[in-house]
Amino acid sequence: MLLGVVREAEPRVAATPDSVRALLRLGHEVVVEPEAGARAGFADQAYREAGARIGDPLAADVVLSLAGPGTVTRPHLRAGQTWIGLLAPATSPGLLDELAARGVTALSMDAVPRISRAQSMDVLSSMANIAGYRAVIEAAHEFGRFFTGQVTAAGKVPPARVLVAGAGVAGLAAIGAAGSLGAVVLATDPRPEVADQVASLGGEYLAVPDEEATVSTDGYAREVSADYAARAERLYAETLPGVDVLITTALIPGRPAPRLVTAAMLDSMAPGSVVVDMAAGSGGNVEGSVPGERVVTAGGVVVLGYTDLAARLPQQASRLYATNLVNLLTLLTPGKDGELVLDLEDPVQRAVTVTRAGEVTWPPPPVQVSAAPAAAPAAAAVAEAAPTSPSFLRTPAGRAALTAVGALALLLVLAAAPEALLPHLTVFALAVVVGFYVIGHVHHALHTPLMSVTNAISGIIVVGAVLQVGDPTAATPALVGVLGLVAILLASINIFGGFAVTRRMLGMFTRSTGPAAGSPGRGSSKGGAR
Ligand code: NAI
Repeated sequence: MLLGVVREAEPRVAATPDSVRALLRLGHEVVVEPEAGARAGFADQAYREAGARIGDPLAADVVLSLAGPGTVTRPHLRAGQTWIGLLAPATSPGLLDELAARGVTALSMDAVPRISRAQSMDVLSSMANIAGYRAVIEAAHEFGRFFTGQVTAAGKVPPARVLVAGAGVAGLAAIGAAGSLGAVVLATDPRPEVADQVASLGGEYLAVPDEEATVSTDGYAREVSADYAARAERLYAETLPGVDVLITTALIPGRPAPRLVTAAMLDSMAPGSVVVDMAAGSGGNVEGSVPGERVVTAGGVVVLGYTDLAARLPQQASRLYATNLVNLLTLLTPGKDGELVLDLEDPVQRAVTVTRAGEVTWPPPPVQVSAAPAAAPAAAAVAEAAPTSPSFLRTPAGRAALTAVGALALLLVLAAAPEALLPHLTVFALAVVVGFYVIGHVHHALHTPLMSVTNAISGIIVVGAVLQVGDPTAATPALVGVLGLVAILLASINIFGGFAVTRRMLGMFTRSTGPAAGSPGRGSSKGGAR
């Protein structure tokens, strides 16, 4: 098949020289519109060297684009042609009708279902990932201070406090980026299952008090109740006065963006604070945000409503979008012979097909998805019913009870232990308490060096245990021998396990020698009409 790559109205492009090579390996030919990749850093010559020719993309059998065909382009399309792009089928009935009437098969990349099998084609996730990162960069650009805290000769600089509302793909990317810049990051989301993901990125999850569990079964949130919204409003009202940067990403598919932040809440933020409303284009999470605009409130808060955040990193976004397309075309070219085969029995291919053989085929039948473990709601219910569960232990009362039980157990052991053992037990108990507080507060970014330290400690344990195992002067040589062997075994697991984990981590940084390096990988976004 001849694949055509159009020049978009925006800086991104649907194919890169690397992705062209991958498409040629599938047996296709590629024609690229002149200057199509220029604004993303890909010159026509680079496409030629990759094996494409420069010419009219509308002459192709399959047109690759970021947007749907604009009104100027549509009359040039012909029956039997295929258009692949971000068509926003839910909001573009007129476009779908026209494409169907012209006999054009339309595949919409923003209709890829959020299931594991389709992850490599999930354009919305790859673009939201870039956009979340870029939202932080835009905020940092506007913010008049460092994100990281510093102690300098000229004074102490506190770290910026960043609140991310909505911890989906964009939100998690924003949490990671803000944390990397050194900010203190808080995040909230009605889906409690994201708490661990937030923590793993170094953020602190703010649960809406007594939140209702809106555990997702498809990777998307459900609409929250009015009661939840009222409690969330209180959380924002209390938290925002101490927040320097707010990034909102709340989305419920098929609905206008939920309104999270009112103008009064914006007024409670300090002058110079920055708000990025990523949902500005779909109704806005923040009162007063304007799609595509930078607004400054009377109180001096900068509100950014940019809707092209992914396109502000055009080269990265183009690479990821192009990779998503290559992955889709790999699925559609099973024989790697340049023949496109659309299998509507396949749920992914069915979901993206929005017009076919003169008919509008949107919406597709629902896809069975498993983005979150189905057992999670049950677990939440159990947690609520049983106050002795780990969530109880996270409350101040739970911690106090645990400390009291630990102290009582220690006293009993001390009372029963022989006098010679008392100093050792005391040192041991103190080491447990100090170790708990020291290690429990190590920043996630320092976990790798922490692992090295624990490896070193394990080495000392092994040496000590080896000396004890053969000690004939011990009061109970058999018991000491057994305990020594157990210590050697456990410490060795830590040492060798540490080496194995380090090896795997280093493997992640090893450059791939295959064709995939810098070629089709992961990424995506929304495009404009041509
Ligand atoms: P997602 O579906 O992965 O995440 C949305 C998150 O919002 C979910 O975790 C959901 O639980 C949460 N949420 C829903 N209701 C909420 C509420 N009331 N309070 C707090 N959180 C709530 O979506 P994704 O892909 O991360 O996109 C997020 C937003 O970013 C969307 O509105 C999308 O259109 C927008 N976006 C904007 C771009 C831009 O250039 N401005 C580019 C890409 C995406």
